[in-house]
Amino acid sequence: MTWHRRHLLDIESLAPEEILLVLDTARAFKAVGQRAIKKVPALRGKTVVNLFIEPSTRTRTSFELAAVRLSADVINFNAEASSFKKGETLKDTARNLEALNADIFIIRHSAAGAPHFLARCVAGSVVNAGDGAHEHPTQALLDTFTIREKKGRIAGLNVVILGDILYSRVARSNIWALTKLGAHVTLCGPSTLVPRTFEQLGCRVSHNVDDAIASADVINLLRIQHERQRKTMFPGIGEYASLFGLNQARLARTRPEVLIMHPGPINRGVEIDSEIADGGRSVILEQVTNGLAVRMAALFLINGGQGPQALGE
Ligand code: CP
Repeated sequence: MTWHRRHLLDIESLAPEEILLVLDTARAFKAVGQRAIKKVPALRGKTVVNLFIEPSTRTRTSFELAAVRLSADVINFNAEASSFKKGETLKDTARNLEALNADIFIIRHSAAGAPHFLARCVAGSVVNAGDGAHEHPTQALLDTFTIREKKGRIAGLNVVILGDILYSRVARSNIWALTKLGAHVTLCGPSTLVPRTFEQLGCRVSHNVDDAIASADVINLLRIQHERQRKTMFPGIGEYASLFGLNQARLARTRPEVLIMHPGPINRGVEIDSEIADGGRSVILEQVTNGLAVRMAALFLINGGQGPQALGE
C-alpha cells in the first residue's frame, strides 16, 4: 500500500488500508523518537504553516514538533496578531503565505469544511487539525494508534464514546476510523447530545451509561463542547457529572482491563473524576505522546514519503 493523497482532510474518505498505513508509519516514527537523534531529513527545505484560527494546546504543539523533527521550517501563524483581525480572508491569508513558499498548511478552524476550501485555494498540501464539529482526523488516528498499541488490534473491540457526541469532531472522526477497522462502537450520553441518527453511521446509541460501559474494552470520554452549543443541551454540569461522568463507582463495574481515553482538554470532576484521569487505566498522556508520531507520519506521507519501509521497518 502506498499513499497517493496530497491532503489529509478527513477520515471519512480514507480506505481502511490508508488508515493502517498511517498507523504503521507512525509506529516507525515512534521508534525514531526513542533514538538518541530524533530528527530525520524527510521535510528538509519544506515550510509548514500552523494556521490555527481556534485555540489548541496538544494539536498545535505536536504538529510543530512533528514538523521540526522532520527538519521542516515552521511558521506558527498567530491569528490574533494577524491581518485576519483587519478582515483579510482565509484564502488571501493562505495565498500570501504561499507567496512566502509555504508548502504544507495545518489548519484548525471553527467552520466545518474550512480545510477542504483551503485545499482548493492553494497549490500545497492541507492537513485538517479540526474543523468545527466536522472532523479531527489526526486525533482519531492517534486514538486508534493508542488502542492498537495497547490491545494489539482494533477489530472486534467494544469502544464506547461517552459525552457530547453531537458537537464533537473527535467523535465523528473516531466513528469513521473505528468502524472502518472493524470495532463495535457505542455512543453514549444525554439524548439531546447523542441523537439516534448516529445509528446510520453503524454505531449503537445508548443513553444508559452503566449499560454502555459494562462490556467496554475502551471508554473514550469527551468534554461538553460549550463553545459550539447554541443553547444548554442538559440541565447542568452537576447533573451531567452525576448521570454520565466516569466516577469510581461506575469504573468498578467495568472490565478490569478497560482503557480510559480522553482527547483533552479534560474537565476534572465533570466527564471524568480526577483520580481516574491520573490512574492506572488512563492512557490520556500516552495519547498525547502518540500524537507526535502520528502527526510525523501524516506530514511524511502527504509529502510523498513511502511508508514505514522508508524508515527501516
Ligand atoms: N485534543 C485536542 O484537539 O486538543 P487541543 O484542542 O489542545 O489541540
